[in-house]
Amino acid sequence: MKNILIIGATGQIGSELTLKLREHYPHGNVVAGYICGANHFGPPLDSGPAEEVDITNAQQIADAVDKYKIDTIYNLAAILSAVAETNPQLAWNVGVGGLYNTLEVAREKGCAVFTPSSIGSFGPSTPADGTPQDTIQRPETIYGVTKVTGELLSDYYARRYGVDTRSVRFPGLISYKTLPGGGTTDYAVDIYYSAVRGETFKCPLKPGTFMDMMYMPDALRAAIEIMEADPSRLVHRNSFNIAAMSFDPEIIYKKICEYVPGFKMEYELDPLRQKIADSWPNSLDDTCAREEWGWKPEFDLDAMTRDMLHHLRKKLGVAND
Ligand code: NAD
Ligand code: SER
Repeated sequence: MKNILIIGATGQIGSELTLKLREHYPHGNVVAGYICGANHFGPPLDSGPAEEVDITNAQQIADAVDKYKIDTIYNLAAILSAVAETNPQLAWNVGVGGLYNTLEVAREKGCAVFTPSSIGSFGPSTPADGTPQDTIQRPETIYGVTKVTGELLSDYYARRYGVDTRSVRFPGLISYKTLPGGGTTDYAVDIYYSAVRGETFKCPLKPGTFMDMMYMPDALRAAIEIMEADPSRLVHRNSFNIAAMSFDPEIIYKKICEYVPGFKMEYELDPLRQKIADSWPNSLDDTCAREEWGWKPEFDLDAMTRDMLHHLRKKLGVAND
């Protein structure tokens, strides 16, 4: 039996991961942690136990862990890259202060901890193509600074205190259930909404801006598989490169046009997001994840596009194919 606390359960990943974990561990408690002011309703909070857990409040984390005899914490609280640049202090308090609180509670109470890192943990001096697992990490965003700090701190707690910390560097995640929270890769979700609504998509990034992306079902599977992996096989812990596909705005636009003929895209660049995207890798090498815990994505761009369009048409009430 597993008792899991998800901090940040109402976000893009948490809103789906909470339900997936409840399905995967039907005999345990999967507790959705939310903060006041965020969405208080919806499936994660209605379909199982839910507690107010602000990650900057260590006592709230400890109380939830005690109340539900939590053995595993999924820490999804963060301020995503573009929004973080507008409030770096908040990004640090949530991303690093919050992680420190989580790791301290985990150390005292014997919990395992999953805290995602990101392609944003890399910077302009990182090799951009086939970015290796172990390489230069000198990000120029506050988001990236929190991610590198998080990787190091998580490894430290594993080494020094034996806390079972594990994680992955997620690419940009594409999903149809909950909108992304203000990142640089959000355009790759927004473009599908425009296509289904019959609107011209205003692309904030210029052609040739390549980044790693992944469909949500693969990301959810990765988050579960890494925590279930045989620890004796893990050479790395925080954090594993994982990859599924890499594309630029032109490639995803042309793919959507195969299924939505006549769909239009114009460029209306967002200088902040462009600068961030230019500093991130084009494509990661995920060999270590494949070798150490059997990582393998299931969705490529074509399969993801067909599934996204199908579900978004249903969600938005547009006649399906
Ligand atoms: P999101 O912005 O959609 O959700 C973040 C969640 O954190 C929200 O539920 C929000 O209410 C919560 N939160 C904010 N401040 C909090 C606080 N003080 N205490 C508790 N909760 C707080 O983000 P997401 O896309 O679901 O990302 C989850 C994790 O995955 C983050 O660490 C993010 O950096 C990482 N990640 C996401 C992507 C992606 O494309 N979605 C890619 C790489 C890494
Ligand atoms: N999707 C995230 C962002 O763009 C990547 O970590 O901020």
